[in-house]
Amino acid sequence: MVQPNPASTGNRGVGVSGGGPSPLPGPETPMAEVVARIRSAVQTHSRRFETSIPLIASENLLSPYAKEMLISDFHSRYAEGLPGERYYEGNEQVDEVERICLDLGRRLFGCSFVDVRPISGTVANLAVLKALAEPGELVGTSRLADGAHISSASFGAFGMRGVKPVYYAWDPERMTIDVPRTREILKAVRPKLCLFGLSLFLFPMPIEELRPTLEEIGARGWYDAAHVLGLIAGGQFQDPLHEGCTVLSASTHKTLPGPQHGLLLGQTEDPDLKRKLASAAFPGVTSNHHLHTMAALAVSFAESIEFGRAYARQTVANARALAQALNERGFEVLAEPLGFTRSHTIAVRVAREGGGEGVARRLADSGIITNKNLLPGDTSPKHPQGIRLGTPEVTRVGMKEPEMVRIAELFDELLHRQRPADQVRSAAAELKSRFTTLQYCFGAGEAAYRYYDLVGRDPS
Ligand SMILES: Cc1ncc(COP(=O)(O)O)c(C=O)c1O
Repeated sequence: MVQPNPASTGNRGVGVSGGGPSPLPGPETPMAEVVARIRSAVQTHSRRFETSIPLIASENLLSPYAKEMLISDFHSRYAEGLPGERYYEGNEQVDEVERICLDLGRRLFGCSFVDVRPISGTVANLAVLKALAEPGELVGTSRLADGAHISSASFGAFGMRGVKPVYYAWDPERMTIDVPRTREILKAVRPKLCLFGLSLFLFPMPIEELRPTLEEIGARGWYDAAHVLGLIAGGQFQDPLHEGCTVLSASTHKTLPGPQHGLLLGQTEDPDLKRKLASAAFPGVTSNHHLHTMAALAVSFAESIEFGRAYARQTVANARALAQALNERGFEVLAEPLGFTRSHTIAVRVAREGGGEGVARRLADSGIITNKNLLPGDTSPKHPQGIRLGTPEVTRVGMKEPEMVRIAELFDELLHRQRPADQVRSAAAELKSRFTTLQYCFGAGEAAYRYYDLVGRDPS
């Protein structure tokens, strides 16, 4: 039996940051011990999250029935192509599940085209760029400091496809696109594709307001719903495919509490466009599309149809409650005049508390997991002024408005009243101990952070 990894279980609490990485196994270490150490690190990680308050806006927890799919035999198989048109034999049940998945996707989003083959949000973005833009063309998007994902950067998907960004004008007070100035930019530069969607996504995008301009210049609207897919599915945000975007790309594991996977949706009857999107998904950016996660996505779509509206409503209500409670305790939560947020996310300028990097680290050491984040005007991604907070996971385990107030109190105690980190960590763990089961899914009440020990012991 191998001793637990000291970096994962050090005396500063369950797997808290700091202390640096522990040494790698040496060449003489038996591989059974290496496997035991890997298991130990993952088990420690699960316990750490079980006892922490996770507020990362892009993370969520999988339901038990979806999780089951991840360790099924689908994981071992290949199924290139589309149901009924595969290149391998043995795919009958894969076809059945994928047909169900596609049908549920069409029902959930009320759209005419669904492709579940991109294996992540970034891969879905690459597929859209491959289908709808040629190298050298201009594509409208937002700046990273205004909340865009790195897909829009020259070192991300845009750069890989060789397209050039045309940046929208931004309104930092309203934390959304400045419509009049953006209309002028689009009319002057006339990109053929315009991307709407963010990683710091507080308010719906003004697609309906910009739609006449897009039509005038002949540009297609493309929506990146990685963050807000579950809010769209639950009818709590905006409906981009019916407001003027023809294509939507997404990850399926943020506000939609599904497996780590990707998705393409379209609202079009144009067979040429559907063919371009499908062939960009395969063979353009994927070969096999990770069938175990596809099956988990089918389960997650079914659960979203059943429970997604209530979950999305509470997720947004929690974000607004957390923002209000932080604001009342002297934190600078962005977009106060607009009610802080209409999504799952809030942005807090923590320059007074020591800056995004230091604050996120202090919070993590106190059992509250967040991330530093660029805010409008920031230039250094390593030293931004902000932190980003999201409520998908705490909502998933059943927290409601009173718990958001308690979390804000913990922020205040740590960052304004200098309460020691270990005391805040104990208080965070005490709060979390009442919220460790999954809600808004079939099998509600199952342990949310359970490590599935299939063999029952370490290898020897
Ligand atoms: C707006 C946006 N698009 C795309 C992605 C990429 O998604 P994935 O991590 O699934 O590749 C993210 C991830 O955070 C995102 O925020």
